[in-house]
Amino acid sequence: MKANQPIGIFDSGIGGLTVARAVKDVLPNETIVYFGDTAHLPYGDKSASTIQAYSVKIADVLLQKNCKVILIACNSASSAAFELIRDYCGSRAKVFDVINPMVERVSIENQKKHIGLIGTKQTVNAGVYSAKIEALGNDIEFSSLATPLLVPMIEEGFFENNISHDVIAQYLGDSSLQEIETLILGCTHYPLIKNEIEMILKEMGRTVDVVDSAETVAESLKNYLKESELLNDKAGTDHFLVSDLTPSFEKASMLFFGEHVTLEKYKLWE
Ligand code: DGL
Repeated sequence: MKANQPIGIFDSGIGGLTVARAVKDVLPNETIVYFGDTAHLPYGDKSASTIQAYSVKIADVLLQKNCKVILIACNSASSAAFELIRDYCGSRAKVFDVINPMVERVSIENQKKHIGLIGTKQTVNAGVYSAKIEALGNDIEFSSLATPLLVPMIEEGFFENNISHDVIAQYLGDSSLQEIETLILGCTHYPLIKNEIEMILKEMGRTVDVVDSAETVAESLKNYLKESELLNDKAGTDHFLVSDLTPSFEKASMLFFGEHVTLEKYKLWE
């Protein structure tokens, strides 16, 4: 592997751009190839085997683009396909997901505490967070809740309004989340509603530390590149590939990345 190879990042759609943003902020000299599988989103309602098939196909695209790292910027794909993609890539690229770095961080910071998770049905039902947190053995209690309305709500730009307030408050009021002290935002769309979640928890009189994985995973990627002497010193042109292109994806990408990106259509299957 060489330092000037790009970093591949993929998600079911454009939510993973929140992770690409954090990577760009922490590693401005790296070149990014982003792949959003907009033709097949949402992943959160799909079976693990379907998500695995899409993920392998996307990993192939990113390997063809000569990526030194493949970062799975989607909790649903991380929970269904991380080990598969890691084994598939072998020595061709280092594979990161958004779950492992987060689990390591929260387990250290929350010993003997109660952690909550919200995410898609796939992420919550797969039980990967709870299994990994338990395996680290820090006497942590864990509760999770699938919150499937949040992704379409955010993609439609519905946040910081009455509707998003009621939806979020309804979820946070669920009995399973009443005792939590830390809340993991287990979906790469959710950083956009992090402030609103914090505000609503405050309104409810609750003290909960809300954490998302974007910065955590970007930092662990930086550490890896440094240790492996793979830090690039000059970024090339970033590319943002999507398997389906519509004006609404272009518009939403601005929300998630915080600046204009030019999406390029890339057909995943001929
Ligand atoms: N960004 C995906 C995740 O982190 C959620 C969107 C989807 O369901 O495809 O799980």
